[in-house]
Amino acid sequence: MVIELWRALGVEPQGLLAEAGPPSLLGVPLLGRPLEAERLRRQGIDRAAVAVGDNAARERLAAALVRLGFALPPAVHPAARVSPSAEIGAGSVVLPSAVIAAAARVGPLAIINHAAVVDHDAALEQAVHIGPGAVLAGEVRVGARSLVGAGAVVKPGVTIGADVLVGAGAVVVRPVPAGLRVMGVPARPV
Ligand SMILES: CC(C)(COP(=O)(O)OP(=O)(O)OC[C@H]1O[C@@H](n2cnc3c(N)ncnc32)[C@H](O)[C@@H]1OP(=O)(O)O)[C@@H](O)C(=O)NCCC(=O)NCCS
Repeated sequence: MVIELWRALGVEPQGLLAEAGPPSLLGVPLLGRPLEAERLRRQGIDRAAVAVGDNAARERLAAALVRLGFALPPAVHPAARVSPSAEIGAGSVVLPSAVIAAAARVGPLAIINHAAVVDHDAALEQAVHIGPGAVLAGEVRVGARSLVGAGAVVKPGVTIGADVLVGAGAVVVRPVPAGLRVMGVPARPV
């Protein structure tokens, strides 16, 4: 997803770092393990993206890259719609058909997946993942590292704490405290 996103923006990724994997992915060569990042930085490479689905792992890896001096630019697919008054944090990705509405604030390292909607004045902390087709209504808040599953809906103004997992298809109508897993309609802790 991330390789194709950067290509859609006219940027060809030069290489991948991964613990293991095939010699190349979608034509991008594997250059080594994540530990090699320091060597690449010394060679003058200064931009990176963290293509890791696990929110906490993405946050840790990004922090290590920033310490090494890499910039993590955000990437918004040309087929996404982002309001000019919305903010997108460093290292965040916005995939095709996603909508980010007026005055919404997406923190760093977010994944706003295909066709997700982040409506007006919503505020997302760092390293969240809003799943495909999920809808965050206006003024919703989402805490750091939380995952809102595919097709879930969050009612206007509801606050979701940090490290929450909202199950696919859930309808969240009340605040969700940090660390909980909720699912169903209406969403309840499980
Ligand atoms: C909620 C969730 C985390 C539960 O995962 P899990 O612990 O592996 O749960 P299981 O698949 O073992 O299912 C356990 C029970 O919960 C039910 N269940 C699972 N997911 C559910 C959901 N989203 N809504 C309602 N019920 C659900 C199952 O039917 C099962 O019920 P049963 O015991 O009566 O048969 C997961 O199903 C989910 O929705 N994850 C979100 C993934 C996602 O959308 N990611 C987006 C990125 S692509």
